[in-house]
Amino acid sequence: MRYTVTAALPYANGPVHIGHLAGVYIPADIYSRYLRLKKEDVIYVCGSDEHGVPITIKAQKEGVTPQDIVDRYHKVIKDSFNEFGINFDIYSRTSSEIHKKTSSEFFKTLYDADKFIEKTSEQFYDSKENQYLADRYITGTCPKCGADNAYGDQCEACGSTLNATDLINPKSAVTGNEPELKSTKHWYLPLDIYEPFLKKWILEEHKEWKPNVYGQCKSWIDSGLQARAVSRDLDWGVPVPVEGAEGKVLYVWFDAPIGYISATKELTPDWEKYWKDKDTKLVHFIGKDNIVFHCIIFPAMLKAEGSYILPENVPANEFLNLEGDKISTSRNWAVWLHEYLRDFEGQQDVLRYVLTANAPESKDNDFTWKDFQDRNNNELVAILGNFVNRAVVLTNKYYGGQIPEPEPQSFEAFDKEIMDQFPKLKESIEHNIETYHFREALKDAMQMARLGNKYLAETEPWKLIKTNPDRVKNIMYIAMQITAGLSQVFEPFLPFSAAKIRKLINFEIVDWDLIGKCKILEIGHQINKAELLFTKIEDEQVKAQIDKLQATKEANQLDNFRANPVKESIQFDDFTKVDIRVGTILEAEKVAKTKKLLKLTVDTGLDVRTIVSGIAEFFKPKDIVGKQVSVLVNLEPRKLKGIESQGMILMAEDADGSLKFIKPDLSVTNGSEIR
Ligand code: 2FM
Ligand code: ZN
Repeated sequence: MRYTVTAALPYANGPVHIGHLAGVYIPADIYSRYLRLKKEDVIYVCGSDEHGVPITIKAQKEGVTPQDIVDRYHKVIKDSFNEFGINFDIYSRTSSEIHKKTSSEFFKTLYDADKFIEKTSEQFYDSKENQYLADRYITGTCPKCGADNAYGDQCEACGSTLNATDLINPKSAVTGNEPELKSTKHWYLPLDIYEPFLKKWILEEHKEWKPNVYGQCKSWIDSGLQARAVSRDLDWGVPVPVEGAEGKVLYVWFDAPIGYISATKELTPDWEKYWKDKDTKLVHFIGKDNIVFHCIIFPAMLKAEGSYILPENVPANEFLNLEGDKISTSRNWAVWLHEYLRDFEGQQDVLRYVLTANAPESKDNDFTWKDFQDRNNNELVAILGNFVNRAVVLTNKYYGGQIPEPEPQSFEAFDKEIMDQFPKLKESIEHNIETYHFREALKDAMQMARLGNKYLAETEPWKLIKTNPDRVKNIMYIAMQITAGLSQVFEPFLPFSAAKIRKLINFEIVDWDLIGKCKILEIGHQINKAELLFTKIEDEQVKAQIDKLQATKEANQLDNFRANPVKESIQFDDFTKVDIRVGTILEAEKVAKTKKLLKLTVDTGLDVRTIVSGIAEFFKPKDIVGKQVSVLVNLEPRKLKGIESQGMILMAEDADGSLKFIKPDLSVTNGSEIR
């Protein structure tokens, strides 16, 4: 079997974060590394998605060219993937010449075969900028969920795919102006024509697809497919290669998936066998927001062209959240890979492990720094690292680092019971990887390390070495074979650690077939000295990350703060009716059974009175006694929780919703008027 594995082309308008890794690039990496280990013919292709409106908007904002933006982020993204061991056979880009040619020819083939409909329609236009407002150039209120900042092509709040003209109160994202409507011609792919094909191919022939993927496809198909425009009025993208199409480019979602094909062409002159041969399995790894494009639109394009294979599976993942909140580039709510690499140098596998163990395979999941620390300290350090270290240290100590000669005829029942489990686990891993259950597969691999740990803990060779050295030879022989097995089985999941284990045991071969055979290292084989595979992650490191996120949250609150609009004008006389005095808090106590109320005794300079104030969430009673505050003294008394409140303490409400006192900068006499 031959495999073409693709991972969604990330937009080159920003760096990549843990959500990208967990959802797409790690699962695809595990899958393709596994296939390579099985000696299958596999290519893993990806590249930067360098067209589309988010890129031109960013360029406009920064006053640079779109090419500058994509050059910058293509490098950042490519480097991050490389550092995390994401083992693409090629990481290409859609601004390359080969991609322009490939996507342009693809369009032309469909055009010449009359596969498009030409339609003139009204589109939003910004007459100030002399520009059509495609996709994200237009924002407005989502007609489906009412969210404020929906884009012309999609609402991020509810995930709906939209048409710009459906937006309520549309505004130009360039100038903020109300747009005009202007007619323009475009090419449409009539998806309705492909409905019977898609129904049969997905709904009947691919019932095994993940429920989230199958369900989304079914709901798209059931609600009736419509023609989709495959061109845009923009000056950044692949020019529409027909006459009368000046100022028009291919829609980014038309050219991007063709990027998989152009990347393959760049990789090998023999590219056709990966795209046109029925014996090739095409698998697209994507996030859930990309399902319709990979399961409906791109397959319809491939079908229209006629000479390509269709995807065998599209194992889309759900989303990863961060500390309970949706990951968001615009709110900087993310763990950026280039920052992780700086803060956790050399610990790429820890993140690979946590993101796989907690991957959003069937539902959205949450990444927390506490879970990251726990999984590292309690699983990687305490199980995998501990076992390998013990096995290597003891082999060095007892046998000068040479694999001892065992006596298989005296293997005990427990030895056999342990060894018997490895082939079964190997099979389970294979089944899980081949059905895209990477979390389960990693659990199985970890179970192999657990077994190793259990074996040493129960046989206790360190106690037997004096009394029964022959038994210890058997134990250490088996422990070292398990270690060698781990150096193979972790290769798809934790490639850096698997390589480190191989270095420790001085064994370079990587071959999936070795797993489960407790006879990998030969008798007398010399291993190297022990070195730790993983190190503990300390509380301070975790705290630093959480503090960073907290600072982001606060900065966002400040950024989002908009002062309330000014109230209706009042006359000077109205103002003079308000009597505000400086007073001093003499006593303060919590009002029982309430969260927010404090009962204050205040010297107003006129009298000493009781005021009930809703500030308990922000101040402890003992901290405010003796403080001078501003008091509205002529407010009608009113009862709060049975206590008569005779006035009001004036507070400023800060951007984060917290309350602060309004007080004189220096102490003044109680009863002084504020005016
Ligand atoms: O959602 C995204 O980030 C897109 N850039 C994915 C494109 S995948 C493919 F079709 F190229
Ligand atoms: Zn919405």
